[in-house]
Amino acid sequence: MTSSPLANLADQTAKLLATIAGLDSIDHLREAEPTITGKRSILSALQKSFGVLAPEDRKEAGAQLQEARRVVESALESRRRELSQAARARTLLQDGLDLGDVVVGDVRWPASVGHPSLIAITQRELEDVFVAMGFTVSEGPEVESDWYNFEALNIPPAHPARGLWDTFYVELGEPETVVLRTHTSPTQIHLMEEAVAKDSLPIHSVMPGRCFRRDTPDSSHLATFHQIEGLVVDRGISFADLAGVIETFTRAYFGPDIESRLRPGYFPFTEPSAEFEVTCTICRGEGCRTCSQTGWIELGGCGVLDPAVLAAVGIDGSEWSGFAFGFGIDRCAQMRHQIADMRALIENDTRFLEQFS
Ligand code: PHE
Repeated sequence: MTSSPLANLADQTAKLLATIAGLDSIDHLREAEPTITGKRSILSALQKSFGVLAPEDRKEAGAQLQEARRVVESALESRRRELSQAARARTLLQDGLDLGDVVVGDVRWPASVGHPSLIAITQRELEDVFVAMGFTVSEGPEVESDWYNFEALNIPPAHPARGLWDTFYVELGEPETVVLRTHTSPTQIHLMEEAVAKDSLPIHSVMPGRCFRRDTPDSSHLATFHQIEGLVVDRGISFADLAGVIETFTRAYFGPDIESRLRPGYFPFTEPSAEFEVTCTICRGEGCRTCSQTGWIELGGCGVLDPAVLAAVGIDGSEWSGFAFGFGIDRCAQMRHQIADMRALIENDTRFLEQFS
């Protein structure tokens, strides 16, 4: 009787398992794999030797061999996993950062904390100038009713002056009754109403804030921009007081090099009205793209309060008078720092922002 080719299977399997346990690297495992489970392995040789078996014994032998292969293959796979995990752990240890000696503020770890926008910096500087002149600082809502943004400011519905402001309407209530404020002037109305309610006139206040117009942004316009409004309501106030405040502000903020001028203008809520302009600092008055070749940059408007506005909020125009002004914070930043294209103000590039403190 021929001895079964599988007589030593248990021993052979044990030897293979010992070989697997002795593999000490992934490379060795790859090298040994063909002789453990592959074509050159004892398992494959045994398979081929089944030819000598009687057909009735083959099934049993096949099952035994299959079981031995399963045990060996699974031992090989778990060794592969162990070895590759160990290799990975070694790599992490070698390549890992040594965090032990990192000092906060060390140049190898520059922790960036960002930078305030130039608009915010400018707003604070402008507030400081006006506070030093005796003004208080107030704020109003960015979403207004048509009444605050237009009507109370003496701009009735369908008044042609509405064309001065390309308005964003909010889908709320009746169509075209709620707007994103097109200027900070509606905050004047809130302030006067409050002063009437509290019987706290006079008012000397500035009101900075964000405004919105359906403008296509270019080098001197943004669709979302910032204004600072000024309002004085007191006894015996005239255009001369307004001109004095504008002049004092210009010198305090821009310094002696920049000239300002008031040109006759039109606003429905002031009479007389003026436009407030300063020398273009990009071209020093020569004319350039930023100032549309005029040499001047319009900062905003101003004027003596129209009696119709005082009447709208219930202030007695025979006792009180006042003036208002409103100009662009972004424009002030642009002119003070000679920024040819205003869009840089909203790009939030820290390399740009870090130039300003
Ligand atoms: N609100 C005006 C504007 O944005 C500016 C202005 C304010 C004019 C106050 C006169 C008085 O165009």
